Amino acid sequence: MIRKLNGTVAVITGATSGIGRDTAREFAAAGSKVVVAGRRHERLAELAKEIESKGGQALAMQTDVADQAQVEKLISAAVDRFGRVDVLVNNAGVAIASRFTEMPLEDFRRLMDVNFWGAVFACRAAVPQMRKQNGGGVILNVSSIFGKRGMPFETAYCASKFALAGFSEALRAEVMSENIDVCTIYPGAVETEIFDAAANSTGLEMPNYIPKFPARQMAKLIVQAARFPQPEVVAAFDAQAINLANTFAPALVDFALGWAVPFIEGMRRANQNTEPKKPDSGNLYQPQDK
Ligand SMILES: NC(=O)c1ccc[n+]([C@@H]2O[C@H](COP(=O)([O-])OP(=O)(O)OC[C@H]3O[C@@H](n4cnc5c(N)ncnc54)[C@H](OP(=O)(O)O)[C@@H]3O)[C@@H](O)[C@H]2O)c1
Repeated sequence: MIRKLNGTVAVITGATSGIGRDTAREFAAAGSKVVVAGRRHERLAELAKEIESKGGQALAMQTDVADQAQVEKLISAAVDRFGRVDVLVNNAGVAIASRFTEMPLEDFRRLMDVNFWGAVFACRAAVPQMRKQNGGGVILNVSSIFGKRGMPFETAYCASKFALAGFSEALRAEVMSENIDVCTIYPGAVETEIFDAAANSTGLEMPNYIPKFPARQMAKLIVQAARFPQPEVVAAFDAQAINLANTFAPALVDFALGWAVPFIEGMRRANQNTEPKKPDSGNLYQPQDK
């Protein structure tokens, strides 16, 4: 089924930067009224102003998605202001770069609270609304290619993205007959702030290893998935290549990654031309700046 976006109401979490901010811009350009959520209120207000200056309608809602009460407030604010929720994009996310055994377990738990539970809370609040309104709705859960293939130094992130993917697939089947579409998005590397904002217990800089897909292009694919709902979107080429290799030769990928770890660590140490980074929790608990 094709969904028209003009006049719909789209709620987007993690809209203060990167994929989420561009997704909000793209929904607004498609004629949706957007409700943008994140912790950095000034950035949300700027985005809402930008959208309104172009003739759109936007509501900025400061929200920490790890807090169920705040997420419920976000969905009810969307309904109070615009009457319905047609699209929900669960995009808010954080990352940790660390060996599993060096990562504080409370950081692991916090990451799950944001990346996984944040989306669960939003679906729990939005699905009943989508059920009772005419036209149902569409939910887009932003996982990662690391939600299809586990990667070393990303145990917590991968766990959260696999959890989100499984939840998304199960929910899809459960609500499909109620005119609610659930789509899982699996991006590869996208040019955003997430690499600098990630918590890091490795003492090493995060590798900046491959060319990244532009966030605006990723946002366009998310909007397209809302228009033409499909079970999943894997983008871009890097994610498709990883997916293909892992589908047809998972043992080979395991072997290659396993043997790559000592080399990656060695290379990262050798390339470290500054003092080792102090372990830090990045933007896990607090946003990095205004
Ligand atoms: N960039 C990539 O290569 C890539 C690849 C695969 C998947 N993804 C996924 O894409 C999504 C967007 O990430 P991005 O790359 O655009 O990174 P980003 O620029 O760092 O954006 C992350 C967004 O999540 C928000 N956020 C973080 N913690 C939050 C919390 N507790 N409550 C509410 N919002 C929170 C941040 O806003 P505040 O700090 O203002 O709250 C920000 O708006 C994430 O789910 C990420 O895992 C990214």
